Amino acid sequence: MLDADEYAAALAALDWQVDLGADEAIEDRPVDRYAHAAEAAEAAAPPPSPAAASALPDPAPEADPVADARQAAGAARSLNGLRAAMAAFEGCELKRGARNLVFCDGDPTARVMIVGEAPGRDEDREGRPFVGRAGRLLDRMFGAIGLSRQEGGIYITNVLPWRPPQNRDPTAEEIAMMTPFLDRHIALADPQILVVMGNISAQTLLGRRGITRIRGTWTEARGRPALPMTHPAYLLRNPAAKREAWADLLSLSRRLK
Ligand code: URA
Repeated sequence: MLDADEYAAALAALDWQVDLGADEAIEDRPVDRYAHAAEAAEAAAPPPSPAAASALPDPAPEADPVADARQAAGAARSLNGLRAAMAAFEGCELKRGARNLVFCDGDPTARVMIVGEAPGRDEDREGRPFVGRAGRLLDRMFGAIGLSRQEGGIYITNVLPWRPPQNRDPTAEEIAMMTPFLDRHIALADPQILVVMGNISAQTLLGRRGITRIRGTWTEARGRPALPMTHPAYLLRNPAAKREAWADLLSLSRRLK
């Protein structure tokens, strides 16, 4: 018998599979086809002769996805080049479970760049950040101070370009390997101001969590003024916090004048 937490986790896992396109239950247990493919390749390969085995090269050095990411991001000379480099990056497992790379939306020449956390289900489907409920609130919030992604004023990206399974928090390793791409994204877009939206973004860009404490206090990130703000998803769950978010928007608006 499942307890309530196990039941919720099982339901979320099923929801995730349906989301990925599974529409039929064939076996009781999932089959890891990557493992099967590797086993089959190993079984099919003839054993090396003793002479050949001694001539085998040393094992390849361990992959270093952070170094690979730094190299790929550093080589990108434009936003389009960076998007292509991220699409080609194979170091992050999240890519396998995602439908789309979510790179950016809005005006790349905007003075304000918003850095959110990671795509959710709607963003994964559309390949654009902040298009679900939280995104609609974000549009209304920034629209209230005259900034919009359609008419200009804001450029939007996320710390992670791929949706984590069941919208879990990204791991420290995932953040570390995608940060070189985010850093390059900020350098290429070159905004005057960064809006650091939510805890994951604050952890990545400011090295701090506790967004409800640090929100509204101007600081610096990647050599430019940065305003930490609570995430619109948090505001949807805690409408009373909208008053403080409004104060933060007014502070941003004053800074832009
Ligand atoms: N939350 C985020 O942080 N980013 C998105 O793109 C969507 C929801």
